[in-house]
Amino acid sequence: MLELIVRNANLPDGRKGIDIAVENGRIAAVGPRLPMQANREIDATGYLATPPFVDSHFHLDSTLSYGRPRVNESGTLLEGIQVWGELKAHLTAENIKARAEELCGWAIARGTLAIRSHVDVSDERLLAVRALLELREEIKPYIDLQLVAFPQDGYFRHGPNAANLERALDMGVDVVGGIPHFERTREEGAASIKALCELAAERNLRVDMHCDESDDPSSRYIETLTYHTQRLGLHGRVTGSHLTSMHSMDNYYVSKLIPLMAEAQMHVVANPLINITLQGRHDTYPKRRGMTRVKELMDAGINVAFGHDALMDPWYSFGSHDMLEVAHMGLHVAQMTGVHQMKQIFAAVTANGAKMLGLEGYGLEPGCHADLVVLQAGSPQEALRLKPARLFVIRRGTVIAQTPPVVSRVELADKTFDVDFRFNGKT
Ligand code: FE2
Repeated sequence: MLELIVRNANLPDGRKGIDIAVENGRIAAVGPRLPMQANREIDATGYLATPPFVDSHFHLDSTLSYGRPRVNESGTLLEGIQVWGELKAHLTAENIKARAEELCGWAIARGTLAIRSHVDVSDERLLAVRALLELREEIKPYIDLQLVAFPQDGYFRHGPNAANLERALDMGVDVVGGIPHFERTREEGAASIKALCELAAERNLRVDMHCDESDDPSSRYIETLTYHTQRLGLHGRVTGSHLTSMHSMDNYYVSKLIPLMAEAQMHVVANPLINITLQGRHDTYPKRRGMTRVKELMDAGINVAFGHDALMDPWYSFGSHDMLEVAHMGLHVAQMTGVHQMKQIFAAVTANGAKMLGLEGYGLEPGCHADLVVLQAGSPQEALRLKPARLFVIRRGTVIAQTPPVVSRVELADKTFDVDFRFNGKT
């Protein structure tokens, strides 16, 4: 007897009426009307079953700290960094872990079962590293958590950070981070990329740098990051996160840059909620959007994924860790409302993130992990529009979160009816 069958689901690729059978935590079969029995059956008629959402860029060490020790009065990136600096003095490993754990509960409820989280190493005690490494092991049955050693205060700019970062890697942090645009000079920014990429190559690790998170069109560290990726043979293992300066770059320069990025198989992460909130702050009008060139990068074959980045912390006072909210914002800011483009946006919060993280067994084919989410929507487009309830969140074949369908009862004088905002095409 199989563990589970999800019956009659719509899939992200457009197939309808598909059954998904699960055995030993893996997908055993996918097809219409499977002649099998299972201990549990989920009727997904008319609903979309998708592989889980992936948050490709987050900060678990600062999340859910809103108001501690004070709120970010101006709402700017720089005041955010200042508030985080003030909070760091009061942090304990227990407190960091408790907040991160709470966030993981939110993520599971939203069907996000993989998170790449940066962890600040600008702290001699490496409290956040210890806390999140513990959490990574404890949460493993439910969430694939990948950690990036992130020198928030600068790799060279904050003296002890080079040593701190290596210590974090020795302790088991997965990915090498960086923040070249925050170093003291252009030269030190470039030198930090060289040193960090060499460190990653030596240790056979992936790289994910906060890169060019700026409106300054001359912030071109992505060029340097691409160069060292190529030079060291790190193809397909390096991510440029944010790349907001690309929004403001000269088109001629970008026409040279993007093919080089494609050649080095760079991954890109945009953080639409945060980019649209924090960038363009020095502009009057017209005011730049600040998100990187998602459409052009995707058109060049570059893997672009989205992250939530921040949530109820010194940088962002909103969010419930809903990757569909992230995708909804990304779609609007990038103006990617074409039929194929909406599918690309849905992939930016699912398959593209899995590719960037290098997740094994992600997908809905036989042999993949039985990790999936059933949504109260019929298609990726409807999911993007409604940001609907996650009816079932399934990990390794077990339901780990459920939400009843959300339906409003409208009671008028002459009739009563239900509304769930699904569009059925009736006139
Ligand atoms: Fe970030």
